Amino acid sequence: MAITREQIHAMASGFQSAKIILAANELGIFRLLAGKGMSAGEVSDALNLDAEACAMLLGALVGLNLLEYGRGKFHEAPEVKKSLGEDSDEGLSCIFRHMNHLYTSWANLDAVVKKGRGKIKATSELLSDKKINRDFICGMFEVGYPTAQKFAEEMDFTGVRKFADIGGGPGVYPIAIAKRYPDINFVIADYPNTIKVARKYVKKYGMGKRVKLVNCPFFDTSELNIGDGFDMALLSQVLHAAPDGKAKGLLKKVFDILRPGGRIVINENARNDDAYSPAPPLVFAINMLIQNAGRTYTISELKGWLRESGFRKIGARRLHERSVLVEGTRP
Ligand SMILES: C[S@@+](CC[C@H](N)C(=O)[O-])C[C@H]1O[C@@H](n2cnc3c(N)ncnc32)[C@H](O)[C@@H]1O
Repeated sequence: MAITREQIHAMASGFQSAKIILAANELGIFRLLAGKGMSAGEVSDALNLDAEACAMLLGALVGLNLLEYGRGKFHEAPEVKKSLGEDSDEGLSCIFRHMNHLYTSWANLDAVVKKGRGKIKATSELLSDKKINRDFICGMFEVGYPTAQKFAEEMDFTGVRKFADIGGGPGVYPIAIAKRYPDINFVIADYPNTIKVARKYVKKYGMGKRVKLVNCPFFDTSELNIGDGFDMALLSQVLHAAPDGKAKGLLKKVFDILRPGGRIVINENARNDDAYSPAPPLVFAINMLIQNAGRTYTISELKGWLRESGFRKIGARRLHERSVLVEGTRP
């Protein structure tokens, strides 16, 4: 479908409205206004902001329909209150703080394209800085839960009792699956900061007895020391974060922890085999480029890597534009 001049203009100026909502979220404006109306002066005093700049930001938020204004007070639009009024598992405030953090790296895209990967400093604290990591991982819960529920609904879990979630982040898949399958127990392998965040989710959803959290820097270890004989292993939105060699190497390590007949499931923001559709994985590839991390793959590439790693009965299906499930079985 042809793109219009107006659409091109809206796309290019989109960074302005994006930064307005990300800044307001970062500064705590939506949380402050949750359930109450305040004047511009009250907001700037409460959050210790510059009065003029705060009033202008509030005005822009009204212009964008994110806030409403009446009788001298600013109020949140209903949907904003629901999604950004407080941190919640159904909200968007963590993922927006994560996006705001990435924003600085995105600003360097032209320089990265000119000079190449790794020549421009990227946001490296994503995994190592506690607060930045927390926002990243909570953000994964916010955006991942609907897909995890779909996964739990549609996947065949026959014979699955022991489930490994490699790079499980907040534990969003175990939490969604556990609700429907009371006999499955889980191991989540991840980095130490992430595990601290995951522990809170596991506790909150009453999963303490069914989930084991293991510190495992899985791209860099020679094997996965998280146990073996697993019936199913999930790699959800993990492979794109590493160079090709390490991503492929991880598949072989997962092969080794599965029982014969056990299944690997990769969930990736993967491209179709024409390589240039759909849009989300193509844009997401840039997100990995600016972080000097990995890239996105085509479905055939992922299937080929599974075959090379020894898996058989390989298949793939798209759940939605950001999610393709690629499965294989250890013979
Ligand atoms: C994009 S998140 C995906 C989280 C979850 N699987 C999901 O689908 O929502 C990637 C996860 O992999 C973890 N991770 C990335 N590289 C890692 C490494 N080298 N060692 C351990 N964990 C890693 C991150 O901490 C994070 O939890």
